Amino acid sequence: MTNKEKNRVAIVGAQWGDEGKGKVVDLYSLSADLIVRFQGGNNAGHTLVVGGKKTVLHLIPSGVLHKGKTCLIANGVVFDPKVFFEETTALEEAKVFQTTASDSIKVSERAHVILPYHRDLDRLREEHASKQKAQIGTTVRGIGPAYEDKVSRRGIQVIDLIHTESLKEKLARAIEEKNNLFKNFYNHPEIDLEATYHYCLEMGKRLKPFVADVRQTLELAIQGGKKVLFEGAQGTLLDIDHGTYPYVTSSNTIIGGALTGCGVGPRAVSEVIGICKAYTTRVGKGPFPTEIEESDPQTAKKIRDIGAEYGATTGRPRRVGWLDLVALKYAKELSGLTGIALMKADVLDGMETIQICTSYSLNGEKRNTPPALASELEKVVPVYQNLSGWPKYDSTKIKSKSDLPKQLIDFIELIEKFIEVPVVLLSIGPDRAQTLEIKNPF
Ligand code: IMP
Repeated sequence: MTNKEKNRVAIVGAQWGDEGKGKVVDLYSLSADLIVRFQGGNNAGHTLVVGGKKTVLHLIPSGVLHKGKTCLIANGVVFDPKVFFEETTALEEAKVFQTTASDSIKVSERAHVILPYHRDLDRLREEHASKQKAQIGTTVRGIGPAYEDKVSRRGIQVIDLIHTESLKEKLARAIEEKNNLFKNFYNHPEIDLEATYHYCLEMGKRLKPFVADVRQTLELAIQGGKKVLFEGAQGTLLDIDHGTYPYVTSSNTIIGGALTGCGVGPRAVSEVIGICKAYTTRVGKGPFPTEIEESDPQTAKKIRDIGAEYGATTGRPRRVGWLDLVALKYAKELSGLTGIALMKADVLDGMETIQICTSYSLNGEKRNTPPALASELEKVVPVYQNLSGWPKYDSTKIKSKSDLPKQLIDFIELIEKFIEVPVVLLSIGPDRAQTLEIKNPF
């Protein structure tokens, strides 16, 4: 591998999202010239604490907080212009940009747009499903409906908001079927074509300086040896193809999503870092083998409270469980992980015993990989290895791995041995300073 090829790092969530990707992106962005988001939309919520100040970004890559970086929103993202302008305005007020917002952020012409009717449809579907106790527990941001329109070739792309000649026609086509659904199935007011059209024109006008051929921008950056960070959202077990279907998001959250979502080949990414907490959380519905909400509610509550495990996007309390190495190994295989960033280890400080799942048992049979059927994954019994916890320690004294308590080193080494991937970063507190970088992938 040449030096040029070493410069491109992707981070993906290795669990069910909320692994602490924001902090890693923030840190790795220091080394990167460009930061690119490749899938999902404003269902993500990256919480960053820099200099003690909390910032949450849902759509704009978190690398934007570093001056002089270029942030790209690639074609694989579903793009809500309303949220985009809320975030750019907040960032402008915080004086984050060296010059203008549009000098720092570029949005792909090909990204699909989330329109108000996508949000409405997401909500109506979830409300309807909840009557049958069958809701997915989506973030209700319109993500699924926007991706549906993309795949069914009824989507509105960013470029349609700029070149508006046939916008009204496209909108009419996109709306026709939905209005039938809204009126006759959901008993909801129909979508107003004129109002939607004018909303799109207005958004397009404001968006113009941000719109670019992001694929080409990225390609030229790669050819020029620039350092690129590919910023994933959500997590592996929420992947539309390989996650706990149907309790998943509507995009490919694994490394494949970075390739299609940016339009680059496999050699564009040299390192893939999986972000993983020292335990597991999940928001929304769906199977979660190592969940301890019922079996050990006290520990679940303790972890939730210490780890502040409440959704950054929806504020929902996250479901809590132990670290699941079966799921992590699956994540390693799906994305070819080359390193693990192990997050929030501090949340487990002072615990007497820590459990770690090393296999599943399904109807008395050992399983080393998650079954495809959600109802079967629901039934698996996690097989645990019990480890001694580590005592509380002063995180300011940790300069290298050997300064860590022995039990924490054992915990790290068990993970490394099991999935055969090194832990390259350890997070022992929310602040940027509370991080042990064992090996920087750039
Ligand atoms: P959607 O992405 O809003 O369609 O929601 C589908 C599922 O993915 C739900 O279970 C959500 O809770 C979950 N989800 C979506 N985005 C995130 C995230 O950033 N972190 C964790 N879970 C997420």
